[in-house]
Amino acid sequence: MTDKPPRYASWTAGKLPLPELAEMKRRGDKIVMVTAYDAPSGRLADAAGVDLILVGDSSGMVVHGRESTVPVTLDEILFMTQWVTRGARRPIVIADMPFGSYETSNEQAVSNAIRLVKEGGADAVKLERGGTSVLRAHAIVEAGVPVMGHVGLTPQTATVLGGFKAQGRTADRAQQLIDDALELQSAGCFAIVLEAVPAAVARAATQALAVPTIGIGAGADADGQVLVWHDMLGFYEGHAPRFVKRYAELGDAIVDALGRYAADVRAGTFPEEQHTYAMPDEERAAFEATSDSQRSR
Ligand code: KIV
Repeated sequence: MTDKPPRYASWTAGKLPLPELAEMKRRGDKIVMVTAYDAPSGRLADAAGVDLILVGDSSGMVVHGRESTVPVTLDEILFMTQWVTRGARRPIVIADMPFGSYETSNEQAVSNAIRLVKEGGADAVKLERGGTSVLRAHAIVEAGVPVMGHVGLTPQTATVLGGFKAQGRTADRAQQLIDDALELQSAGCFAIVLEAVPAAVARAATQALAVPTIGIGAGADADGQVLVWHDMLGFYEGHAPRFVKRYAELGDAIVDALGRYAADVRAGTFPEEQHTYAMPDEERAAFEATSDSQRSR
């Protein structure tokens, strides 16, 4: 048996088993989730001991430069899930179901969820909102695909919510949010994301639910936390929400590195000898003799 690496709250040699998340909630071990969109980020999140990776439709904004997540397609999430699952071994990889990929019918939701698992290699899928999404979640779970719910600020329907702003700030709205989360749990969801909700509401939801809650802008009492890769690592140019903590300034580091590269190229100081291929001396002499004789013709 290998020693437990300290970075994991809950350590297993292979893929983290899904039921372990409920055990982590029971033990009070916080669940760590981050988004990732390609193989290197999947590998790095795994190396850092992250428990859950979300191939989020936030990619539409932070990777593809769009104004919202709405235009993201199933194929985009499918490709990114293939890349992430090539890099990540232990974390459970959850593919976000993009807007338009599950709303029309249970059949549509099930067949798209199955594509994400079968072709993308996802371990689970996530969908947003209560209401009809509860029916979709139930149908997908019945088909054998684990589902994560997502309530509070649901960016796919931000227009209906009045923009990207905190949700559940009145007593009625807070209760509605908790009811939605409970319905998603009854539909079989294994965890629920709570996005941009008051800490008191997240605390009440976390106590009311048997399944883990994963907070983003929901205070410290959720069972786990999620942040978006580009936000937390400091290379998203757009306006970051107040709940983001930046753990690195990789954008600055990249601009600095590119600037030094450009300066070296312009000064002729890159490439150096060590970056250059050589030829055996006799081959080089023969080649130069041939080129000399060609030039003198
Ligand atoms: O798409 C995403 O990254 C998300 C997280 C913010 C939870 O849904």
